[in-house]
Amino acid sequence: MLLDIRNLTKRFGGLTAVSNVSFGIERGEIIGIFGPNGSGKTTTLSLIAGILVPTDGSIVWKGKDISALPPFEVAQHGLVKTFQNPQLFPELTVAQHMRIACHLHIKRALGFGRVWSLFRGMPAELNGTLTRKIDQMLELCRLADKRNEEAGALSYGGEKMLGVAMGMVCEPELLLLDEPASGLGHDEIMNLDAVLRDLRTHGVTLCIIDHKVGFLGRLADRSIALHHGAVIATGKTADVLANEAVVEAYLGKKHA
Ligand SMILES: Nc1ncnc2c1ncn2[C@@H]1O[C@H](COP(=O)(O)OP(=O)(O)OP(=O)(O)O)[C@@H](O)[C@H]1O
Ligand SMILES: [Mg+2]
Repeated sequence: MLLDIRNLTKRFGGLTAVSNVSFGIERGEIIGIFGPNGSGKTTTLSLIAGILVPTDGSIVWKGKDISALPPFEVAQHGLVKTFQNPQLFPELTVAQHMRIACHLHIKRALGFGRVWSLFRGMPAELNGTLTRKIDQMLELCRLADKRNEEAGALSYGGEKMLGVAMGMVCEPELLLLDEPASGLGHDEIMNLDAVLRDLRTHGVTLCIIDHKVGFLGRLADRSIALHHGAVIATGKTADVLANEAVVEAYLGKKHA
């Protein structure tokens, strides 16, 4: 198993946002996470990515407990999370954002030498490698023609796709996506669907939160449903979405 989450719990004061959650992810899978607002989806992904520290439980990645590691070390292990609303710099171009996202490569290649590269410029060979990686990822995320556009000029779908491309340039083995389809129109969702399938073909395992049953229902092999921080159903996505407790959690008992 690639990722094994055992009895994960996160409390904020008196509120238990994630309660005793256990599930696993196998290499190459697309896993969906469903659940109504406030059910603990984002908190779960933030715990996995090291953005939050668990109150209890463990996160085991390829047999190693990573639950106490900070986010940059978790990313170095190959787990990267994208945000629901990527925080972009409107006046920087798409390519410049991708350069910023390459910090892990630069750190790996130069170590402390990266401080000197600020004054002396980046070594030409590394510069070429990064440019190739960036071009490849922009191509994969259908953003190649937007390379030199300022982020402020992108559509909302373009902004979110840039967030995915920035995560992907860190070369994750597992990409955690928080509501990548929210706020997107039909064509943008179809585009996102095609990009995510391509990422899987390139060997990336995906764990995706979304409310859009059509989008994630088609895409995810397996799903987990959360309610009040606890797992209420797991299994094949179609079965999870048809599960009575899941329907009730979304619609309320009366409407279910
Ligand atoms: N930093 C925090 N401090 C205190 N409470 C928090 C914090 N982050 C989340 N919570 C609370 O934890 C619960 C779960 O929040 P979370 O953001 O994980 O839900 P979600 O399933 O992602 O919801 P949504 O669908 O609205 O994005 C909510 O009650 C939320 O208010
Ligand atoms: Mg959320």
